[in-house]
Amino acid sequence: MTGAGIQEMRLSLFLGKGMALTTPEQRTGQSVRGRFDLTDRVAVITGGAGLLGAHHADAIAEMGGRPVLVDIDGDQAKAIADRVAKRYGVQAVGFSADISRAESVAVMVQRVIERFGHIDILINNAARNPSQQSLDGRTGITSRLEHFSIADWHSDIAVGLTGAFLCSRHIGIEMARRGRGVILNIASDLGLIAPDQRIYRRPGLRDDQQPVKPVSYSVVKHGLIGLTRYLATYWAGQGVRANALSPGGVQTGQDEEFVTRLTNLIPLGRMAREDEYRAAVVFLVSDASSYMTGANIVIDGGRTVW
Ligand SMILES: NC(=O)c1ccc[n+]([C@@H]2O[C@H](COP(=O)([O-])OP(=O)(O)OC[C@H]3O[C@@H](n4cnc5c(N)ncnc54)[C@H](O)[C@@H]3O)[C@@H](O)[C@H]2O)c1
Repeated sequence: MTGAGIQEMRLSLFLGKGMALTTPEQRTGQSVRGRFDLTDRVAVITGGAGLLGAHHADAIAEMGGRPVLVDIDGDQAKAIADRVAKRYGVQAVGFSADISRAESVAVMVQRVIERFGHIDILINNAARNPSQQSLDGRTGITSRLEHFSIADWHSDIAVGLTGAFLCSRHIGIEMARRGRGVILNIASDLGLIAPDQRIYRRPGLRDDQQPVKPVSYSVVKHGLIGLTRYLATYWAGQGVRANALSPGGVQTGQDEEFVTRLTNLIPLGRMAREDEYRAAVVFLVSDASSYMTGANIVIDGGRTVW
């Protein structure tokens, strides 16, 4: 017998009698490209009128999905949805809702289901993104732990955590009933590490007046990663997956000194461009990540590695 013949015999013994050689696509019925496809999937994106929300919508629409942009700024959400619908030739809608209020979330979910029949994807992306500056813009004193107001604490938690909980509950119940769905929580590199408060310093201020990243941001982002793990196991048996994406800071015209200080903490030597999370979002909300749940993908230029 020739070498090739022996090889063939070994292969047929290994595969079992009568088993034909097949490609992975033939075995699973899905090509790699097909796994990223989102044709007709309905995706609710909270904070859809914001910087990254609009990119999530673009990414979903590019893959054939139907983005539903939900924001407290309903006019802006609708304007972005119109632009997305025109650009990609898909259905895209904007809804006004305050996700920190249970009634508002219930109405929004009901309206989306009336319009599309179901929801395949939820991206918990809205945040209050508290400023490091004081309310009067002069000093950083009000963001400091010693002075951080209980009102700001409650507002930040209400949007970032309570809002994500309410949307996950209302939409997750529907997904579990249908036996399929994906939840993606947008956390942050600051969901893994503490803020390095030195990068927010302003010249001419006493140490006890320097602005800081507020404690609520850390708590919300760490909390979202915890919520992800909870949801992932809670509905695993009903076909609902939940994962988190932890982005690093996006460069959007911040002052040069701040950018240099932050960049020095990032192995790749730069902040993110605003479109650099799009592909990861598609991966996480599509069948490409079908065996992934409870995970947190960190895309931060390596900041949390240092
Ligand atoms: N931009 C970054 O550098 C960066 C980095 C890491 C993580 N993130 C996270 O990504 C997400 C999006 O960030 P972004 O930069 O697009 O923020 P953004 O401030 O541009 O957008 C947030 C959106 O949430 C909306 N919102 C606030 N309160 C709401 C409420 N009660 N109900 C409904 N919508 C509400 C706002 O109106 C806004 O449109 C946030 O969770 C943020 O923490 C952003």
